[in-house]
Amino acid sequence: MKKLILIFILLLAVSCKQKSSKFIDNTPIQGLITEKAMVVSARIEASKIGSEILKKGGNAFDAMIATQMALAVAYPYAGNLGGGGFMVYRTKYAEYGALDFREKAPIAAFKDMYLDEEGEFITDKSKVGGLAVGVPGTIAGIFAVHEKLGSLPIEEILEPVIALAKNGFTITEKQSERFLKYRDIFKEVNIDSSIFTEEYKPGDTFKNIALANTISQIAINGRSEFYQGITGEKLVEYIQSKNGIITMDDLNAYEVEWREPVVFWYKDLKVITMSPPSSGGICLAQILKLIEPYSLDEYGHNSLKTIQVITEAERRAYADRSFYLGDPDFIEIPSDTLVSNNYLKARMDNFSFEKATISESLTYGVIPGYESPETTHFSIVDQFGNAVSVTTTLNAAYGSKLYINELGFFLNNEMDDFSAKPGTANMYGATGGEANAIAPQKRMLSSMTPTIIEKDGKLWMNLGTPGGSAIITSVLQIILNVYEFDMSMQDAINAPRFHHQWLPDVIVFEPNSFSEKILKQLEKKGYIIDEKKTKITSKVDGILILPNGKLEGGADRRGDDTAVGF
Ligand code: DON
Repeated sequence: MKKLILIFILLLAVSCKQKSSKFIDNTPIQGLITEKAMVVSARIEASKIGSEILKKGGNAFDAMIATQMALAVAYPYAGNLGGGGFMVYRTKYAEYGALDFREKAPIAAFKDMYLDEEGEFITDKSKVGGLAVGVPGTIAGIFAVHEKLGSLPIEEILEPVIALAKNGFTITEKQSERFLKYRDIFKEVNIDSSIFTEEYKPGDTFKNIALANTISQIAINGRSEFYQGITGEKLVEYIQSKNGIITMDDLNAYEVEWREPVVFWYKDLKVITMSPPSSGGICLAQILKLIEPYSLDEYGHNSLKTIQVITEAERRAYADRSFYLGDPDFIEIPSDTLVSNNYLKARMDNFSFEKATISESLTYGVIPGYESPETTHFSIVDQFGNAVSVTTTLNAAYGSKLYINELGFFLNNEMDDFSAKPGTANMYGATGGEANAIAPQKRMLSSMTPTIIEKDGKLWMNLGTPGGSAIITSVLQIILNVYEFDMSMQDAINAPRFHHQWLPDVIVFEPNSFSEKILKQLEKKGYIIDEKKTKITSKVDGILILPNGKLEGGADRRGDDTAVGF
């Protein structure tokens, strides 16, 4: 009996420990620790399916396909077939690469397509309904990964995903709240009722038979089912019935791009991250390099000086982002200069600890000779040593809210990531210019920052997050929390976050998490504080390789995110 009580107390202690955190009740914690392999994603079902694929001998790339598709089933908020994303990888041989499966503007798209006769931006047009949809890249993405790096047959990888869609998953509390929040807009946009216009309680089982059928057809017929086949035809017909402009020619023409990742050093960390058309990698490189000369570890985590240095670096990087960055297939990006030491040193020249720089007084940096011409992330490390980092999105929660009953999935509203009118903000308040203007078949600028980091030549960290324009600054803070402030992966993710993006000129803080005294001091120096209005929606999922070779998962407490491994 005594033994039983002891075991009970131990179990209780372990389960409490999972929930506590240095930032919740002052108890530092680690996330899930495993020996060999791990998948961390926004849903337990997706992490489990990915981990099972690894257990049966598949590699991280097979698990990427399974996890991506399982998220489309169990996390329709952002997991998708109707969207796109980016993947950064590092193989067990330390070879790295990046895949761009971002959506593209339709062939019939044009620069002023969201402006009215007076030239004003009609903001809803790029956000909701058929005209907001970019040509989806996800299915092309998973087949490209499979062809180049996969090891198991595609049918075997997709089988548990199809079973998940058929048998259903349990709705969590957070999920039922979201379903409820968006029900009316689903009805309004789609007119038809669907499984997403019904009422659900936490604990209900959610099945999506139409999606099971669509994925089965894709498993049988391959990539062409989506881009040339019956699924594609139904998709185009539906989008056009909702005033969209995507045609079969758009689907036919869609191709992914294998790109060179952005690779740079921060002290002794080698960071491998996403290149344009995501702004994530260049911005992250700029911010970390702008911060490098300052002793953040001495100033302290979330201290006045640390917040100032990070904010001022972010302000400068986001000013550059809005001017220089866009689709590299359409514009010239001075990537090397933007991350060069000389250029960055000059960018910080006008920073002083005494006073905030005012965003309006700061523009993009001058480069001689240059002429302007709800997302989700998962991280995988496999038992062989391969690492895969994927951020994928429909853009807003459930994308354009267009849901195709017959096929069982939502369509993105990625067109809103273009700069519809220079100087006008998109849904993340991010402004852009000519570099990110709409053009046929162009990719819209992203902030997605799937990132893999080496230390001493070995895999050290794998991370990423959703969160719109706050993606980059969230990834940044997790790296700094572990590297500069010695936190575990889980505590680094639990720690409160803040964000600055040049314009609007405010620092957004997670509510009730920062010292009142520091916020007051910042205000005195001229910083504008937003603690309540704007939400930081990032949910970081990452894996840290510990000095003993074991893996520590960090799954964001802000969502239902879960690490699973062995
Ligand atoms: O590509 C981008 O940067 C955006 N479409 C990401 C959207 C996002 O993270 C939404 N999640 N909260």
